[in-house]
Amino acid sequence: MNSNQLLTKVNDYLGALGYPATPELLYRPVEYALEAGGKRLRPVFVLMSYGLFADDYDVAMPCAAAVEVFHNFTLLHDDIMDNAPLRRGRPTVWNRWGENVAILSGDAMIISSYSLLAKAPAPLLQPIMECFNRVAMQVCEGQQYDMDFESRQTVAESEYINMIALKTSVLFEGAIEIGAILGGADAENIARLKEFALEFGLAFQLQDDLLDSYGDSRLGKSVGGDILEGKKTYLMISALNAATPEEREILCTNHRNESLTAEQKIARTLEIFNRYDVKRKTEDEINRRFAKALAALSQVEARAEALAELRVFVEGLMGRDK
Ligand code: IPE
Ligand code: IPE
Ligand code: MG
Ligand code: MG
Ligand code: MG
Repeated sequence: MNSNQLLTKVNDYLGALGYPATPELLYRPVEYALEAGGKRLRPVFVLMSYGLFADDYDVAMPCAAAVEVFHNFTLLHDDIMDNAPLRRGRPTVWNRWGENVAILSGDAMIISSYSLLAKAPAPLLQPIMECFNRVAMQVCEGQQYDMDFESRQTVAESEYINMIALKTSVLFEGAIEIGAILGGADAENIARLKEFALEFGLAFQLQDDLLDSYGDSRLGKSVGGDILEGKKTYLMISALNAATPEEREILCTNHRNESLTAEQKIARTLEIFNRYDVKRKTEDEINRRFAKALAALSQVEARAEALAELRVFVEGLMGRDK
């Protein structure tokens, strides 16, 4: 099956999950978060990875849904941590219902994701749980580094790459690994697929950083949010590395300058970004990571048609604007 057919299956499955009606402020935000709007990349990855080795997709559906519910849980809490007002073109859960609701609905979503995961075929449950638990903890580690870096003056590029590997790549790796385990892949193919997912995830987060500063309303998130939060994105780190001491001072303190409006803060930072061509530099790094991802994918030995579909799917994601 191609990615569009699998996306439909994922949406049907998620739409049929059915959460209780009450307490309304616990479950309504869960449904709001899981409604249409997300790209559903991670569950489609679970299914496409499974499809490289087997073809009864229903076997993999609960785990695919588990990964998507977990991803959406991370977004509920991430939007609190990032002070983000908008997601998928709508108010974030904390913005609409308050932080306490977003915390608890997020907690309910983790529990929901584990319930779904537990539906995996019994003989495969242990390796799948191990993978999922490792990934879930690493995402927390990545999120903490992301916040730690906000208050640091300097962050090395290698530290940044390690941080985004944890907060973003590992969930793609987990999705791909769980699909491959369910499909019966051997250790060597799993290792190559994880290498693919790692590099893809890095390219994906770099693109996310790029769009946060240079995207438009199609993104569905508020553009410039990373600048206002003082995030050490790839763009910010590249600019800091190239900047003069005066410019570095602006880059590091601008977001806390109470005499500037949000628009002025964003404009001042973008001016320095543009001076040092950090957009181009980021695009080069995205392309480099993406090429590494495709190289790893080409080493996988699996059903040729499914492999081609996976390749087409990820190629379609490069240069995305949302
Ligand atoms: C957003 O992920 C969080 C990141 C890791 C950048 P997506 O861009 O996949 O979000 P949705 O699910 O499609 O909205
Ligand atoms: C999010 O990174 C990673 C996780 C949610 C684990 P970002 O904070 O950049 O994601 P967006 O931009 O809010 O989607
Ligand atoms: Mg974040
Ligand atoms: Mg965020
Ligand atoms: Mg982002």
